[in-house]
Amino acid sequence: MTDGPAMQAYYGRDLERDRLATGVGRVELIRTIEVVGRTLPEPPATVADIGGGPGRYTDWLVAAGYSVIHRDVVAHHVEQVLDRHGRGVDAVVDAAVGDAMALDLDDGSVDAVLLLGPLYHLATRADRLTALGEAVRVARPGGVVYAAAISRWAVRLHGIVVSGLHREFPAVLDTIDELERTGRIEPVTDGGFSGYAHTPDQLREELEAAGLVIESLVALEGLSFAFDDVDERLDDPDERAVLLEALRTLESVPDLMGLGIHLLATARPT
Ligand SMILES: C[S@@+](CC[C@H](N)C(=O)[O-])C[C@H]1O[C@@H](n2cnc3c(N)ncnc32)[C@H](O)[C@@H]1O
Repeated sequence: MTDGPAMQAYYGRDLERDRLATGVGRVELIRTIEVVGRTLPEPPATVADIGGGPGRYTDWLVAAGYSVIHRDVVAHHVEQVLDRHGRGVDAVVDAAVGDAMALDLDDGSVDAVLLLGPLYHLATRADRLTALGEAVRVARPGGVVYAAAISRWAVRLHGIVVSGLHREFPAVLDTIDELERTGRIEPVTDGGFSGYAHTPDQLREELEAAGLVIESLVALEGLSFAFDDVDERLDDPDERAVLLEALRTLESVPDLMGLGIHLLATARPT
């Protein structure tokens, strides 16, 4: 099951509220919208944002004219969505606490499913297949599922080498090899991130085992996690174009796929 108390402790710090507003999070947002936008059915359509967190993608979908169902296991993330999109009969979004492994949605009831978070926190293959199976179940025939995963090498590359996690928490250097062997991310401190990190081949295998046909698998942020001037680059139209074009061009090169923070798959039920 979802790594319960540790995950709730991490998200209790409310780091998700503004995570996609700056730095590499901003690249993640721009690139996710770009990749999803390639295949998302035109509105009006219903999109389930499962593990939608504070709802940044829900906001985008609502503004674009979609009907949105938002579910997340962290109650205060759902509250943030309700605060912005209303409650009860006035609600613009159907937002509620819900588990990706047991969705309260009918079979074939949505046109698209965003699963941009639950796979980060399901430690066993069986649980990840259950969550993917739920996405398959609620998607209509011909619908589309977008599934994101954390790259197996993100903790070493982004957490340690770029962000210097080891300076505050030296023990991470003793556990990184084991993390990369198993995929399991253990918290380095109380309220630290816990979760699961995929290799690209493993994500492919799990999607297919869940009954999905993969249309694309891309590296989302590529090398941009390594720059300390990401915002400056994104604010400069020429630099932004160069950066995004590089990420787009290299997004599916197999040799580079794991060199980033997130993988994003676009897939359809068989
Ligand atoms: C890193 S956040 C991502 C939020 C948002 N989708 C985004 O991409 O910005 C991961 C989210 O997945 C949620 N989550 C984890 N396991 C879940 C599960 N089994 N069911 C529903 N939500 C889950 C967490 O509560 C958290 O809000």
